[in-house]
Amino acid sequence: SRNIRLAVIPGDGIGTEVVAEGLKVLEAVGTKIEQTHYDLGAARYHRTGETLPDAVLAELRGYDAILLGAIGDPSVPPGILERDLLLRLRFEFDHYVNLRPVKLFPGVETPLADTPAENIDMIVVREGTEGLYAGTGGTMRRGTPHEIATQESLNTAYGVERVVRYAFEKAKARPRKKLTLVHKTNVLTYAGDLWQRTVNRVAEEYPDVTTDYCHIDAASMFFVTQPERFDVVVTDNLFGDIITDLGAAIAGGIGLAASGNINPERITPSMFEPVHGSAPDIAGQGKADPTATILSVAMLLEHLGLHAEAAKVERAVADDIVERLAGWAGRSTHEIGDDITARVSG
Ligand code: IPM
Ligand code: MN
Repeated sequence: SRNIRLAVIPGDGIGTEVVAEGLKVLEAVGTKIEQTHYDLGAARYHRTGETLPDAVLAELRGYDAILLGAIGDPSVPPGILERDLLLRLRFEFDHYVNLRPVKLFPGVETPLADTPAENIDMIVVREGTEGLYAGTGGTMRRGTPHEIATQESLNTAYGVERVVRYAFEKAKARPRKKLTLVHKTNVLTYAGDLWQRTVNRVAEEYPDVTTDYCHIDAASMFFVTQPERFDVVVTDNLFGDIITDLGAAIAGGIGLAASGNINPERITPSMFEPVHGSAPDIAGQGKADPTATILSVAMLLEHLGLHAEAAKVERAVADDIVERLAGWAGRSTHEIGDDITARVSG
C-alpha cells in the first residue's frame, strides 16, 4: 500500500508526550507512514513571534492527514494560539465536520450511576467552520461604563446543509439510525430556523433515519440523565464545543476523548487531535493519558480508509482499558503507550 504522508504538530504542554505514544501505535499497525514534525505553538511564538506562517500552512496542505497534540500555554495571552493557529487550521482546511465520538468503553468508570456501557454510544457532529467561532463582532467605547461588545454567529445555508448531510450519512450507517439536532431554536430564532428547516428538508431523503430535536439546555441534562436518547447529534460550533466536554465527562473523562477535524471530500488534509488541551500543570511528568490521542489515531486511519487498522487500534485500546480495571492504574504516559503498542503488534 502507499505511504501515508503525515504532518505532526505536537504543540504545547502534554501535546508532545501524548503524540509520541500515538505515533508509536501508528507505526505498530504496519502502515507505511512518512512523518514530518512541525514546531508550532507557544515555544515558536515566543522565539519568533510566529503562530502559523503562510509558508507552513501551504506545506501542510500537501499531506494526507495531520496529527495534533495540544495548543495553548499560560505564557501566551488567551486567544492568540487558539485563533491564529488551531482555529485557523480548521478554517483554512475547511474542516467543517468536527467529529467527536462519545462512547463508554466497557470497564471505564462514568460519573453516571448504574449506566451500562451500551447506553453511552453516540457521535457528536459539531460544525467546525461557522457559528460564533467565525462570526463578526466588535467593541465600542471599550473600557468605559458604556462599552458595547457584539459577537455574531455566522450560519450559511451551504455550511449548515453540508454538515447536516454528513450527520445523516453517519446516522444511516449506524444500527439505531437516529439523528438529533441540538440547538436553541426558541431563542436563536434566525439561526435555529435555518438549522431546523435544513434538517427537515434533508430528512426527506433519509426515510430510514429517525430525526429528533433537543434544545441545548435540555440536551445537557439528558446527556447526564438519559444518554441513551442520543445516537448521532448534529449541532453548531459552540454548542458542539460545550456538549462534547460534557460528553467526554460521561464517557470516562477527557483523557479518553478523541476527535477529528474533517474535510470529508478530502480536498485538504483532515486533522486529528485529542479533545483535551495542553494541561501545563502536568506537562513533562509522564502523567498524561495518551489514550485520547491513540483513539484519534484510530479515527485518522479510518478516515484514510484503513478500516482494519483502525479497528485494530480501537480493539487494543478497549482491551487495555479492561486491564485497567484489574489494577493497572498508575501507569505512565509511556507505559500506557507501550502496552497498547504491544497489543497492536501482537
Ligand atoms: C476544542 C477546544 C477549542 C475549541 C479551543 C482551544 C479553541 O476547546 O477543540 O474543543 O473551542 O474548539
Ligand atoms: Mn472545547
